[in-house]
Amino acid sequence: MPAQKALPVVVGISGASGSAMARRTIDRLLEMEVPVVATCSSAARQVWQEEMEQPFRDVLETWLEHPLFTYYPIGDLIAPLASGTYATRGMVVVPCSMATVAAVAHGLVTNLLHRAADVCIKERRRLVLVPRETPLSPIHLENLLTLARLGVTVLSPEPAFYLRPKSVDDIVEFVVERALVAVGVLPAMSDKLTYHPRSE
Ligand SMILES: Cc1cc2nc3c(=O)[nH]c(=O)nc-3n(C[C@H](O)[C@H](O)[C@H](O)COP(=O)(O)O)c2cc1C
Repeated sequence: MPAQKALPVVVGISGASGSAMARRTIDRLLEMEVPVVATCSSAARQVWQEEMEQPFRDVLETWLEHPLFTYYPIGDLIAPLASGTYATRGMVVVPCSMATVAAVAHGLVTNLLHRAADVCIKERRRLVLVPRETPLSPIHLENLLTLARLGVTVLSPEPAFYLRPKSVDDIVEFVVERALVAVGVLPAMSDKLTYHPRSE
């Protein structure tokens, strides 16, 4: 059995707003020398183009220079992570669109990201979704509830206003930290991101 640290974390990037969270999640994992296996939907690439300064393909090229980073195209349904026999630590879908939430909640596998999430559920591995949409319709809420009842962590990217974030980067950092705690890579929140009442 490989050591836990040697097992990869799967990162799925779907087409919700919040490309910066995807970027920071992968950067943070690689900084910690945690192997990453990633895939990214076509919609996610389009949203990335709207939200980020650096094109996705340039960032992907930089990630691919890291020996612990592996990337599979979204249509590659014979990639290793499409099988439960490929051991992983779990998966973070960040950001997670409502379309992907619906597909995963109903076991509809139309791409590699859906399949990798489906594998996490069937193998009872940690699956953390960072869904982003507002307002949420009853359809979104029912799908999220279905997933939460299956043991999936639904970690919406809400700022902790009481930590007084000074920038979008602060909010991104907080959400990514929480997602990495939820997937079991970080033992707990760092002191910087922990609530210390000012009245103490
Ligand atoms: C600029 C932009 C922002 C979007 N933001 C969201 C979002 O926050 N949440 C969401 O569920 N869909 C959002 N969408 C729509 C999704 O990209 C779309 O539903 C897509 O089919 C999702 O596919 P995927 O889940 O395969 O990535 C956005 C689309 C665009 C172009």
